[in-house]
Amino acid sequence: MTEDGAPWLCLPLLECLVAAHGGPVERERLCREAGLPGEDLPGEIDRLRDAGYVVERVHPHGVAAYRLAGFPDRLYGHEVRRRLSTSWIGRRILSVAVCGSTNDLARELAGRGAPAGSLVLAEEQTAGRGRGRRRWHSPPGLGLCFSLVLRPRSPLRSAALLQAAAAVGVAHGIMKLTGRPLTLRWPNDVLMNGKKLAGTLVEAIDVEPAEAALVAGIGLNVNQTAESFPFEIATEATSLLVETGLRRNRLDVLCAVLCSLEEWYDRMERGESAAIADAWRPLCCLLGRRVRLRRGDREMAGVVKELSPLTGILLATPGGGEVRVAAEHVSLVRPDPDDPVTAK
Ligand code: BTN
Repeated sequence: MTEDGAPWLCLPLLECLVAAHGGPVERERLCREAGLPGEDLPGEIDRLRDAGYVVERVHPHGVAAYRLAGFPDRLYGHEVRRRLSTSWIGRRILSVAVCGSTNDLARELAGRGAPAGSLVLAEEQTAGRGRGRRRWHSPPGLGLCFSLVLRPRSPLRSAALLQAAAAVGVAHGIMKLTGRPLTLRWPNDVLMNGKKLAGTLVEAIDVEPAEAALVAGIGLNVNQTAESFPFEIATEATSLLVETGLRRNRLDVLCAVLCSLEEWYDRMERGESAAIADAWRPLCCLLGRRVRLRRGDREMAGVVKELSPLTGILLATPGGGEVRVAAEHVSLVRPDPDDPVTAK
């Protein structure tokens, strides 16, 4: 697996400029530290500019120098790596401009033995998918779409727990970054002000048990405007920009979410499934509410008496009975539109 995204850039040159925090770096020093002959420097500076970096030529005290005045809004692997403070997520990064689905790329890499924590990022997906064969709209440069190769100790038993851990991880990461409350819609849609901000898609990889892996794909709307969503999802989708009025650096959002995902995944691997369910439940906020849920082709209504992303839902039905529906059979839960409290 190779790190991708900007392999044509002279990274030692970039790092030397970055280390000066916007201050000037003399030409000579840049050449020395980047191992470049003097005549190659202008060409390498131009490549950085073509990649979106703002590099200014300056002459402090009459000496030729350059300074880095701005970073591109691009998800280059080396930019992610510099900002990321995780211990194992993102140790390998594959960043591509465009792909069908990052989940497919991650599955392919997992099948070829990519280590746990390998991160696949794309600026744009042409066939991004969500749960239940829905599409995930991923236009270039506005949101985040990425997938992680994960190798839990027992992959087959971990899928449901990972769904919950991923939803909690994404939600906590965004809440910490923005200070805004979020909710979860069964089982793992992440909502801000009742509209969909992010979604997670966990998929198992069919390979030899010894190599078994899960892929967790996350789509997160960051800088989309309300008008940029396609008509079909315009009323139910939202972005951080729409909700908070702030255009964000997508790398900051990505790193905050990855840190939180790592924390919750590590808890899962330490056997803290109850803590994950306990963190998920209040975000889901359906306890005690009247809902309609779908089990296969059947719809049922009732009041939620118990709720867990792992074991499922216990419903008190209108006839006075109780029905328990296992998590894997619940395909949809919605507040009951006839209920004055829940239909908000
Ligand atoms: C959902 O809301 O139903 C889940 C959406 C998951 C979308 C992400 S974007 C990155 C990864 N690649 C995909 O094709 N899907 C997931």
